[in-house]
Amino acid sequence: MEINWENLPFSYLKTDYNVRTYNRNGKWGELEISSSEYINIHMAATGLHYGQESFEGLKAFMGKDGKVRVFRWEENAKRMQSSAQGIKLAEVPAELFKEAILKAIKLNKRFVPPYGSGASLYIRPLLFGSGAEVGVKPSSEYLFLVFVTPVGPYFKEGFKPVDFLITREFDRAAPLGTGKYKVGGNYAASLIPMEKAHNLGFANVLFLDAKEKKYIDECGPANFFGIKNNTYITPQSSSILPSITNMSLIKLAESFGMKTERRAVPLEELETFDEVGACGTAAVISPIKRIVDDVSNKEYLFGNEPGPISTKLYQKLQRIQTGDEPDEFGWVTIVE
Ligand code: PLP
Ligand code: COI
Repeated sequence: MEINWENLPFSYLKTDYNVRTYNRNGKWGELEISSSEYINIHMAATGLHYGQESFEGLKAFMGKDGKVRVFRWEENAKRMQSSAQGIKLAEVPAELFKEAILKAIKLNKRFVPPYGSGASLYIRPLLFGSGAEVGVKPSSEYLFLVFVTPVGPYFKEGFKPVDFLITREFDRAAPLGTGKYKVGGNYAASLIPMEKAHNLGFANVLFLDAKEKKYIDECGPANFFGIKNNTYITPQSSSILPSITNMSLIKLAESFGMKTERRAVPLEELETFDEVGACGTAAVISPIKRIVDDVSNKEYLFGNEPGPISTKLYQKLQRIQTGDEPDEFGWVTIVE
């Protein structure tokens, strides 16, 4: 099958292999290579019944030099450990995480999109309770699996500004809940608000803090950032996922001589930003041109074209990821 690399959507495409291993009696087994897209799981698995499940998302890029680079896998490994602690999953050691993602990439090298196509190889580690329980308790067995799939931009617009809907009707996660972990339940909770946003023509939902509805929280499947007065500002909140892209953009902004702030961002402050956007592995940077509040119908308008700082951040990040610029922060692992 011919793959049209330039027009790949962000969706699942079958590749050749995935890798898997089980944790039984507290010990991880050998990593197995599988060519099946299916898993055989017990009908009483805790991952199915009680949401004892976590996943990750990271990307690999083909360079001009023909080398494949993975971006900041160590951070994804750490975050999966944090998610594991958050919902009592068996933790995947960083070395096992690394071995699994590198193996999955190497075995599917023909699916790494070519340099210059704008596409990348999305790596999806998955960890869940696979053991049978009927009472609510952590599983005694876990499956850790990594598959890969080539993807294009998450928002079909790519690096073009999109519209977001503030919805006060729904919360994605509670302040002391699981929002800071990458667990499936958070995404299930976002499906209805997301559908509402899509039906009204918006790319996604901008959530407000669940407790007071005063502050900006998570931005669809991404973090929010705003730019003004040579400062990069992003919400501090206990219910958003600590984004590795956001963490990287903060470092890049600092390297451009900008100030950076991670703090509560009141909704009214939206009016004061020159540029706003969503950032994440899938979204990369998605500039935002319009935000509408679903209760007051108040509109916040930004440029119809990506702003200069968002553009500079986006280009710099992509150039580091593809190896066009030196890896001055030590973010890239070359897949040998
Ligand atoms: N927030 C949510 C809810 C996400 O699903 C993601 C994607 O992983 C992010 C933020 C961005 O995180 P990262 O930049 O690590 O991909
Ligand atoms: C990512 O950015 O990697 C995500 O996980 C977002 C979404 C596909 C869940």
